[in-house]
Amino acid sequence: MSKTTNIIHSIPVDPLTGSISVPIYQTATFVQEAPGVNKGFDYARSNNPTRAVLEHMVAQLEGGTAAFAFATGLAAIDAVLKTLQSGDEIVAVEDIYGGAFRLFTHVYQKFGIKIHYVDTTEAENVLDYINNNTKLIWIESPTNPTLKITDIETVSKIAHAQHALVVVDNTFPSPIAQQPFALGADIVIHSGTKYLGGHSDLVAGLVVVNSEKLAADIKFIQNASGGILGPQDCWLLIRGIETLELRVERQCKTALQIAEYLTQCDEVDQVYYPGLASHKNHAIAKLQQQGLYGGVISFTLKEDTEAAAIKFVTSTQYFKLAESLGGVKSLCCHPAQMTHKSIPREKRLASGIQDSLIRLSCGIEGSEDLINDLKQAFKQCATTTLLTI
Ligand SMILES: Cc1ncc(COP(=O)(O)O)c(C=O)c1O
Repeated sequence: MSKTTNIIHSIPVDPLTGSISVPIYQTATFVQEAPGVNKGFDYARSNNPTRAVLEHMVAQLEGGTAAFAFATGLAAIDAVLKTLQSGDEIVAVEDIYGGAFRLFTHVYQKFGIKIHYVDTTEAENVLDYINNNTKLIWIESPTNPTLKITDIETVSKIAHAQHALVVVDNTFPSPIAQQPFALGADIVIHSGTKYLGGHSDLVAGLVVVNSEKLAADIKFIQNASGGILGPQDCWLLIRGIETLELRVERQCKTALQIAEYLTQCDEVDQVYYPGLASHKNHAIAKLQQQGLYGGVISFTLKEDTEAAAIKFVTSTQYFKLAESLGGVKSLCCHPAQMTHKSIPREKRLASGIQDSLIRLSCGIEGSEDLINDLKQAFKQCATTTLLTI
């Protein structure tokens, strides 16, 4: 069965009314016949029928046993960290998403959680940091914004030999391109804000697990800490996911065309995209992302300055200058001055985020139109350079 058929028909028709669209249960509580005698719902933090449909859908999409919806991607990450205890250790991908780095380092470190940041593009590097206290190996593949790839299957084997769990933040590839559970992962995270939602109109997060024990642990934390996703946003996310496969396939196709175009541009120095044969781990990406390399591309300019990058990102018309990614409208961003501004320059440079690095998130516009937009932006930059000489 095609993924889209499966997605669309995993959404139940409302048994009460026949509504083909999932009803938004905008309620705080549910009337009970007697204490504890109810229709499966008692209080909206603990459960909500709209949220239950979304959670079931995402669990199915990822091939997990259960999924849990949170207010944001970071709230989902936070829920997983709450399964740890003081003294536990995490081995995390070196260029982890900045918000996760901030949460790990500035919130959880003070509670006695130790984090080792490791270049996981060579899976064996994990062996140098894993020990009896290691509880989680935290992977993003591809990473944000330099699109580094980790071999999830090999890392999972290393982790399991040490009884550690593997968490994969699957935000960038989406479940259409990458199925971490099939590669050995134990927990999958999503910023639903990105590809799952797909329209840049909500923030949301998901934790997906592949065992009853983890499901019970995350369910407990979801209810105990309370960072749930509200029913309106659950509904928007359900609607977004209905077209996930169509959007992601088109975004990946466009991104590959744009990455190839960028490699031909005189103004461009490096192009980071796992779909290019020149990418360090292209062969692994090809296997574990089933030939769909994602809708995000990063590149640096030969004139490696923040000023040159800022001129470029303020010259595009279709690529709107904004944080976030994964939506139907193309976006561009300058990580040094936006998403990674809080990271000291030396540390940022060490993780490959150069001053001129520009990140593109391809939407669903025509690929020719997007390439023409980049061409005219390069032309504008060249004109400015000439005028200032
Ligand atoms: C890979 C990744 N994970 C998690 C998050 C956090 O998600 P949210 O912004 O929904 O909290 C982001 C946000 O950009 C991200 O890029």
